[in-house]
Amino acid sequence: MSQSSSNRIPATLISGDGIGPEIVKATVRLLDAVDAPFEWDEQIAGMAAMDEGGDPIPDAVLESIRKTKLALKGPLTTPIGGGFRSVNVRLREAFKLFANVRPALTFLPDGRYSDIDLVLIRENLEGMYVGAEHFVPVDGDPHAVAESSSFITRGGCRRIAEFAFDYAVRNGRKKVTIVHKANILKALTGLFLETCQEVGEKYEGQLEIEDKIVDNTAMQLVLNPGQFDVILTTNMFGDILSDEIAGLVGGLGMAPGGNIGLDAAVFEAVHGSAPDIAGKGIANPTALMLGAAMMLDHVNEQAKATRIRKTLVKVINEGKTLTGDLGGQANTQEFTDVVIAELE
Ligand code: NAI
Repeated sequence: MSQSSSNRIPATLISGDGIGPEIVKATVRLLDAVDAPFEWDEQIAGMAAMDEGGDPIPDAVLESIRKTKLALKGPLTTPIGGGFRSVNVRLREAFKLFANVRPALTFLPDGRYSDIDLVLIRENLEGMYVGAEHFVPVDGDPHAVAESSSFITRGGCRRIAEFAFDYAVRNGRKKVTIVHKANILKALTGLFLETCQEVGEKYEGQLEIEDKIVDNTAMQLVLNPGQFDVILTTNMFGDILSDEIAGLVGGLGMAPGGNIGLDAAVFEAVHGSAPDIAGKGIANPTALMLGAAMMLDHVNEQAKATRIRKTLVKVINEGKTLTGDLGGQANTQEFTDVVIAELE
């Protein structure tokens, strides 16, 4: 049964570049099949917008997200050179999307790991990524010394810690691991650890809270990933660990991400625009479909989100209809047809 128009939720839809339009089309078909409540405001960003008006994120896109506070986006290519900052970083900053949420779940049967079901929550706005860096010339060498500053604020740590612990409780998670390097970077990640632990005291009895040093975490993820439930960490450690975790569950084609802030939430696949396979209709839409499921969770449509996730796990586990990156022969449309047909 379709939703009445009063229950519709306005959301911005950005097809993006490269394989973006192909996987967005597939994902919207799946969302329609589960009767998702979104009413799309389609916007053009990335290279197509560059060609039209010279800016990969035109004001109309920002205005749309400002209104809807919710977006599903395909990957955007960042033009090389010409002084363009990453369009994704610009979106994060424009809407103060301070939390990056990346769930990882074992999908592939007979893979190296059978028991991964974890969520990495990364602080998205502070740390090394503030871009305060410069070279110091010495003896005629303009690049003799490079200096970079990293900033972490108590307010920023508190905000991401509260988000992570609330997320864990809301989603029935049991344990949060605070990941840091406070043994060496005593002020910088010491403040992160200290603040997360302080915030964590309020969740005593609801969650088990532990901390681990980042290098040990990287090793433990490979040795025994099943021990992790929710990982809470800083911007750069999160960037590195989340790709490691994507690798543990079958690569970037399986990894969704949510960028969540006080002003908006933007859901996407973790991978980029894959120019090498763009236009061929063979991309794996799973990561964006999982991103769409996160978007459904975000608007309290957990039942529809679960249907999508369960069906993807089933189809991929059956192994009969897989895209090329997973060793199969199916194209994007054939894979999507089967996922929709298998919905329970
Ligand atoms: P990429 O993720 O686009 O591609 C890396 C490799 O993975 C390629 O061989 C590609 O064919 C494959 N791949 C990626 N997604 C796939 C899928 N769904 N199905 C099958 N195979 C897939 O990374 P790359 O080449 O470094 O970046 C290309 C462009 O994407 C760059 O302009 C980059 O700035 C942009 N990018 C955008 C992101 C975003 O919008 N969130 C994230 C990462 C990169």
